[in-house]
Amino acid sequence: MSSQGPRSEELQFPFCQNATDKYEKLAKIGQGTFGEVFKARERASKSKVVAMKRVLLDNEKEGFPITALREIKILQQLHHENIVHLIEICRTRAGPYNRYKSTFYLVCEFCEHDLAGLLSNLHVQFSLGEKKMLMQQLLNGLYFIHNNNILHRDMKSANILITRTGILKLADFGLARVYSQKDRNRLTNRVVTLWYRPPELLLGARVYGPEIDIWGAGCIMAELWTRFPIMQGHSEQEQLRLISQLCGSIRPEIWPGVEKLDLYGKVELYPGLKSKVRDRLMPFLQNQYAVDLLEKMLSLNPSNRIDSDTALNHDFFWTDPMPTDLMLTMSKYNTSMFEMHAPKRRGQWTNLQQQRQQQHSHMPPDGQHFERIF
Ligand SMILES: Nc1ncnc2c1ncn2[C@@H]1O[C@H](COP(=O)(O)OP(=O)(O)O)[C@@H](O)[C@H]1O
Ligand SMILES: [Mg+2]
Repeated sequence: MSSQGPRSEELQFPFCQNATDKYEKLAKIGQGTFGEVFKARERASKSKVVAMKRVLLDNEKEGFPITALREIKILQQLHHENIVHLIEICRTRAGPYNRYKSTFYLVCEFCEHDLAGLLSNLHVQFSLGEKKMLMQQLLNGLYFIHNNNILHRDMKSANILITRTGILKLADFGLARVYSQKDRNRLTNRVVTLWYRPPELLLGARVYGPEIDIWGAGCIMAELWTRFPIMQGHSEQEQLRLISQLCGSIRPEIWPGVEKLDLYGKVELYPGLKSKVRDRLMPFLQNQYAVDLLEKMLSLNPSNRIDSDTALNHDFFWTDPMPTDLMLTMSKYNTSMFEMHAPKRRGQWTNLQQQRQQQHSHMPPDGQHFERIF
């Protein structure tokens, strides 16, 4: 809205239902960088449960935030079982109690858990077949959005939702955007949470594509076994060091063209390191196919990184045990698990012994740090 245009309090928004009339908030389930998320119930039906994500109108003069508009436009376009479904946009009535400013909400289908919350609870154990099913659904979601020319740009376990029936959904399209395969434009490289950020973005690439989401999906895949994010850097430089220590040195011989990236030569690289993905992750994954797929997802050179289509055809998904439905396992948990309610997952995954001890001696008693939500 321009300064000459109508102010938001003067607009009627005839197609935008009143949030407080229609929904009753039940609990806060998320506190992200961009606002709060609530579990809510439709007043009329009482049984229909939704998630309401508040749109932060921080810079009031600018009107409705472009980032929220982007998220809405993209979600409206995407209809797939493995993508969170946007039901509608709601607003609160503007009045003297809110300085005549409506609050807007994205109303989405409610999912009972997020993957970060589930993995932080050591009671939750997935079998190999179930892990395959999770990865298959995650890659199906990525295949679908990439095929629709959308980059997610914020893959991480807190943005992966799981329903109580075991369906995985990609969520949080707050950083997502449309890209063009043919003419790859310059995009901002200030995207993706540091621990899941691929080497090309850390080296300043402004021309990039779906490979950045695959890197994040690889980090998430490893996390299904390690239960902790595998590379927890405190700075971009440290993140590059952790990546090189795991995946090997970044060098033009394995990544032709890397020397042309903006930050190549400006940041420290770590020569002489070999990939340790297999050595360090085999003790966790204990499956040749899983490690092979992971290595391909964590390829330093983005043009050698496996794409979602090829990944879905990988033997990992087509050998015994085959992907197993998660319905049974998930139906056992009648308490929601979200990152917001979980202890900080800054643990180490490098020491197997330590992790085993943790599993046995520090098992959190049921429900201790998870609010009862349903
Ligand atoms: N549809 C939903 N169902 C259940 N929980 C959700 C839903 N959407 C978001 N959440 C929870 O809220 C958190 C923050 O939401 P998200 O969309 O990721 O916003 P942000 O941009 O603030 O990170 C998520 O990590 C998840 O735990
Ligand atoms: Mg998020």
